[in-house]
Amino acid sequence: MISQESIQEIQSKIDIIDIVGSFIKLKKRGANYLGNCPFHNEKTPSFTVSPSKEIYKCFGCGKSGNAIGFVMDHEKYSYVETLRWMAERYNIDLKETETSPEFKAIQHTADSLFIINNYARDFFTDTLFNSDEGREIALSYLRERGFREEIIKKFQLGFNPSAKDEFAQSALSRQYNKELLLKTGLVVNRDDKFMDNYRGRIIFPIHNLSGKILGFGARIIKSNDRAPKYINTPENEIYVKSKILYGSYFARTAIDKANECLLVEGYTDVVSLHQAGIENVVASGGTSLTTDQLRLIKKYTNNLTIIYDGDNAGIKAALRGLDLAVEEGFNVHLVLIPDKEDPDSFVNKIGAESFAAFIKKEKKDFILFQLEIALKETGNDSTKKASVVNQIAETISKINKTEEFTRRQDYIKQVSEILKVEEAGFNALVNKLIREKYSKQELKGSKTDNFNEASSLTIPQDETKPDESFSLFQKDELHEQAMVRSLIEFGLKEWNEGQKVAEYIFSQIDDTDLSELLDNKLLVDIINLYREWYYAGIEPTDKNFLYHEDKSINDMIIRIMDVNTEISPKWKEHYEGHIPTREELYKEEVLSTLTYVQLRKVKRLIAENQQELEKAKSSEEQMICIETHQHLKQIEMELTKRAGTVIYK
Ligand code: CTP
Ligand code: MN
Repeated sequence: MISQESIQEIQSKIDIIDIVGSFIKLKKRGANYLGNCPFHNEKTPSFTVSPSKEIYKCFGCGKSGNAIGFVMDHEKYSYVETLRWMAERYNIDLKETETSPEFKAIQHTADSLFIINNYARDFFTDTLFNSDEGREIALSYLRERGFREEIIKKFQLGFNPSAKDEFAQSALSRQYNKELLLKTGLVVNRDDKFMDNYRGRIIFPIHNLSGKILGFGARIIKSNDRAPKYINTPENEIYVKSKILYGSYFARTAIDKANECLLVEGYTDVVSLHQAGIENVVASGGTSLTTDQLRLIKKYTNNLTIIYDGDNAGIKAALRGLDLAVEEGFNVHLVLIPDKEDPDSFVNKIGAESFAAFIKKEKKDFILFQLEIALKETGNDSTKKASVVNQIAETISKINKTEEFTRRQDYIKQVSEILKVEEAGFNALVNKLIREKYSKQELKGSKTDNFNEASSLTIPQDETKPDESFSLFQKDELHEQAMVRSLIEFGLKEWNEGQKVAEYIFSQIDDTDLSELLDNKLLVDIINLYREWYYAGIEPTDKNFLYHEDKSINDMIIRIMDVNTEISPKWKEHYEGHIPTREELYKEEVLSTLTYVQLRKVKRLIAENQQELEKAKSSEEQMICIETHQHLKQIEMELTKRAGTVIYK
C-alpha cells in the first residue's frame, strides 16, 4: 500500500495542465485551457481544463474530473496504478506502508498463478497448432464451426491433449510448485498422481483487463452425457468469477469507442462476434450479472445491450440481474435472437452484416420491454394492472441520480402513455418511491416523520402546477449546490469583523437538521466535513474535497465548481466600466444561496402545517395550526426581505 504521505506529496505536485497536456493538445483560452475531448469524437474543442480549480470538464460529453481521475479514465488505470504513474513522472519516491505477511503471501501466490497460467496457455496453443491430435481433432473442429485461424490466435485458443497427464508432466518437469498447480485447476491429484483436468478439451483462456490470464474455460469436443460441457477454473487468488467478464481485454477499446457494451452468454459467442467485426462484446458465462462485473463495464460505458436467446429461459435469464444494471445507472437494452439460436450460431447463419443490422433493428429498451411482458400477462385485470404500475414505478425510481433526471422523465412520459395513466400521478408515485428510499438512507430509521408527497415536492404550492414538480426538484438541487459552493468558495473570507463566512453560515444552520434543509445527502456530508475540518483548525478549500478519498465527493465538487465562472481578463480590458466579479459580490451570493434553502424549508413546513390544519379534529388543534402558520409566515417574510428580490428573478 502506498503511504498517505506519498499520496499527499503526489497531490501537491500535480499539475493538471502538464498531465492532461501529455495526452491531448491544449490551447490557452483566458484563464483556462481548451482542447479536443479524448472521451468523445469532436471537431470543435469543448474540453476545458482549469489550472486554478485543478479540474477538467467537457462541455460536449459532460465528462469531468481531477487529474488523477483523468489518467484513470484515459489509461484505464486503477487508482494505485495512476499514483505510481504520477510518482514516476514527478520523481517521487513512493513510500509503501508495511504490508502484512498475509498480503505479501497472497500477492506472491497471485504472481505465481499468473506465471503458471501463462505457461499453460503457451502449452495449449502449441498443442493445438503443432501436434497431430491438436490439428486433427481440435483445430479441425474449430474450423468446422467457422472459426478462422486469425481469430483463434487472437483469443489464444488452445487444446489440452487427451492423454491423461501430458500437461501435468510438462509442468512438473519445469518445477512448478505442486500446490499452486492444483490451485490453478489445470491438474488434479488422483491417488498421488497428477492428471490433466482438461483432457481432450478446447481451451479458452480468460484474460483480465491488462491481458494477464486469470484462468480457463475448457470445452468438451464431442458432447457426452457423463461429462460437463465446460470445466472452468476453480475460484482462487486470481480467478474470482463474480469479477470476470470473458472477452473484456479484447473488447475494451471497442466498447469505449462504440460507447456501448454488448453482453452475451458464452465464450463462443464472443469469439464469433469478434470474427464478424463486432468487437464490443463480453460474456457473463450464463449467470446473472454482479455489481463487480457491472463496475468493470462502467469504466468504459453506461450503455449495456444484452443479446439473449429468445426462448422463455433466455428471457428470464436476461431479466434477472438487469434491475441491478438499471440501479447502477446503466441504459439497458435488450436484443432477443430467434429461438434455438445463440449469437454464435445466428451470426454464422445470417452473416456479419445482417447480424449487425438485426441488432440495430431489434434493440429494445429494457424497461419498456419489461413493461410489455408484464402487460401481456395482465389482460384486463385491474388489480394486476395496478401491480404492474407499481412494479414499473419501482424500476424507474432506481434511475435517481441527478444527472439521470431527463432520462427518468422520458420514461415517466412513455410509460404513462403505454399504461394509459395520468402522467402527473405517475410522476408523483415515482417521486414518492425515490423519497422513501432517500429518507430511509438519510434517517437511518431514527425518524419516521417523512414528508408526504404534497408537502415535500411541490413546495410553493400556489406557484406550481403539479407536473412542474420535476423541474422544481432539479432546480432545488442546483440551489442546494449553490449554497454549498458559496460555503466552500467564500467560507474563509470575512463576513463581519471577526467573523468568517463559514462561521456565519454555521450560526445560521446550527440548530437545523441538515438533512431537512438539503435533499442531497452528499451535500449534507460535504457541509459536515467542512464544519469538522474548520473547527479542527484546518482551513478547507475545494482541493480538500477534490482529492478526498470518497470519489462521490470529488464528483460532486466538480459538479459544483463551475469552470467557467471566471471572467476573462481580456474581456475586462476591453470593458470600460467596472464589472463586479463574483468575488466582490460574495456576501450577496452567500446570503441569497443560504436564504433560498432556508426559505424552501419554511415553505415545506407551511405546506405540511396546512395539511395538519385540514386534518385537525378539534378547535384546539386548529388553533395550534393557525398559530404555527402565523409564526412560519413571519419567518418566511423575514427571509424574503433579507434576500431582497435577487433570488426570485
Ligand atoms: N457454461 C459453463 N459450464 C457449463 C455450461 C455452460 O460454465 N457446463 C458457461 C460457459 O461460459 C458457456 C456459457 O455458459 O460459454 C454458455 O453456455 P452454452 O450456451 O451451453 O455454451 P456456448 O458458449 O454457446 O458453447 P457452444 O457454442 O460451443 O455450444
Ligand atoms: Mn453456442
